[in-house]
Amino acid sequence: MSDKDANKMWGGRFAAGPDAIMEAINASIGFDKRMAAQDIAGSRAHAAMLADTGIVERSDAEAIREGLLTILSEIEAGDFAFSTALEDIHMNVEARLKDLIGEPAGRLHTARSRNDQVATDFKLWVRDQLDAFEAGLLALITALIGQAEAGADWVMPGFTHLQTAQPVTWGHHMMAYVEMFGRDLGRVRDARARMNESPLGAAALAGTSFPIDRDVTAQALGFDRPAANSLDAVSDRDFALEFLSCASICAMHLSRFAEELVIWSSAQFRFVTLSDRFSTGSSIMPQKKNPDAAELIRAKVGRIFGAQTALMMVMKGLPLAYSKDMQEDKEQVFDAADNLMLALAAMDGMVRDMTANRDCLAAAAGSGFSTATDLADWLVRVLGLPFRDAHHITGSLVGMAEKAGCDLPDLTLAQMKSVHDGITGDVFDVLGVENSVNSRMSYGGTAPEQVRRQVQRWKEILG
Ligand code: ARG
Repeated sequence: MSDKDANKMWGGRFAAGPDAIMEAINASIGFDKRMAAQDIAGSRAHAAMLADTGIVERSDAEAIREGLLTILSEIEAGDFAFSTALEDIHMNVEARLKDLIGEPAGRLHTARSRNDQVATDFKLWVRDQLDAFEAGLLALITALIGQAEAGADWVMPGFTHLQTAQPVTWGHHMMAYVEMFGRDLGRVRDARARMNESPLGAAALAGTSFPIDRDVTAQALGFDRPAANSLDAVSDRDFALEFLSCASICAMHLSRFAEELVIWSSAQFRFVTLSDRFSTGSSIMPQKKNPDAAELIRAKVGRIFGAQTALMMVMKGLPLAYSKDMQEDKEQVFDAADNLMLALAAMDGMVRDMTANRDCLAAAAGSGFSTATDLADWLVRVLGLPFRDAHHITGSLVGMAEKAGCDLPDLTLAQMKSVHDGITGDVFDVLGVENSVNSRMSYGGTAPEQVRRQVQRWKEILG
């Protein structure tokens, strides 16, 4: 690069161009070109406002507008030569504008700085991601509701400590994830509403002496209002951190579900069969069908958490207002966004395609003394025993069944009576898993009727 190029943007102050290493550490064009469309949208809004307020001639603003549109189509067509010497997307676009329209190009940067420009571009980019995030969540939630509805009364074991605890319904388990992703949806919407203030017009840090109209640019770019403090506007990256935080929590949810799918699709469980479209084979073991997508979703959370931690570290010690450290915000967010959207789409696909194996679920639901709590509850309800005593008696019966190598309903009444002689034949009614789940009618409980109510509630929420 020649010295002449180096001085293109900041003129006479510099006698020499940057060292190659300086250029390498300084340039962001390699990644911030992803914000080209946002950069051009911001510039268009700014130029129109400059003409409306009489700060630049309307003819110049018109030339700028046309030039920017040409640049956008060049970039979209892949015909744009991005230059590292021009550092970032903002200067690449402006330099090309100068090639295209000459002198008026220099007027675009009136009453603006790259500091408010980059904050605006990045906000617009993150806002688009929040919208895509919302759409991805809605698709996944819809898929889960479909599974829940189909299997609202299918029984399966519910676990604590990954040990059989009590029978639950398949629909109930699916709806647990609907609640999680539903909260993610709420967080995304909150974040979007909070971040939707325009930094444009904050200029370098202090505002500007030109009579700009920040309401007009805010409106043109779909913001609710201009950000109220120029120092904050150029140095705020909370919106990116909130995006990463929403992404992290959602990725954690995705990872937990992915983990269950890995376990459930194993030969030992066979609770679900993943479709061929969302499974892979092994190059050596012909029998294998691997849940690779679930495993990768489980792993993606690492880089997404990592991005959030990294940007927190970048931001934590920065004095007001802008510091170049903040250029390190984008790659983390880009990577997290790409991987989150991929993980959401893959999970959506897996859920839509997977088959719950009703018989395997039911067989597993009945084993492992899963109705022991129902038995204890019966002793309380029918015999009037204190729960602690009922718990003890049931424990003895479980021990007896374990010794005999059978399940609770396989014990004879005589065996039961040997532990507590008040027990009657009616007890067998509560030892069946169907009965167990049907009885759990408390609000939010696992009874099919409750599950169907929650399905209905979510359908109404989603509209
Ligand atoms: N490429 C820069 C970034 O991503 C743009 C802002 C540069 N501003 C400055 N004063 N050097 O943050």
